[in-house]
Amino acid sequence: MKRLVLVGFMGSGKTAVGRRVARLLGVPFVDTDAEIERRAGKPIPDFFAQEGEAAFRDLETQVLADVMRGPLSVVSTGGGALLRAENVAVLRQGGLLVHLGVDAETVLHRTGDRAERPLLAGHPDPIARITELMAARESVYAQADVHVWTVGRSLAELAREVKQAWEERQTVKVCSGLKESP
Ligand code: S3P
Repeated sequence: MKRLVLVGFMGSGKTAVGRRVARLLGVPFVDTDAEIERRAGKPIPDFFAQEGEAAFRDLETQVLADVMRGPLSVVSTGGGALLRAENVAVLRQGGLLVHLGVDAETVLHRTGDRAERPLLAGHPDPIARITELMAARESVYAQADVHVWTVGRSLAELAREVKQAWEERQTVKVCSGLKESP
């Protein structure tokens, strides 16, 4: 069985949807950003400010690889998790990648004052920044196995759809038509 791995832009709902789907499926939920913060011993904005994005990406790669070696779970990733090809390979090998799609206005709304998102914090024109980052990442999110549009949809509805998409792809197809020799 493959893990259910949620990918997508900041504010697409990966953590909220992931937590809910994990509960529906009765499997553990892992938030890779929370695990990065636990290992770093500090919040992500502090880590970015003190050690830089490259150090963050290195730790992110380690955490993703470790989580994909762990037990079956629903995994919520950071918005930049697919930026490295090696991460994509590790995630695809042990997981079904479900992309939660969102538009720039909704990201702006859902990320509030953006203080917790170092890539968005402090920008004078946040909508332009979000649009630019989204455009640059379009092709990486396109690599997911399943795409779910989240705008205007409830958490309950999204969780059900994601769960169903995962279950449909877990079905072991039994080979029919084989006949026993007489
Ligand atoms: C990032 C997204 C964040 C976090 C970090 C970098 C990104 O996670 O990993 O700030 O590059 O898009 P969320 O998508 O959970 O906000």
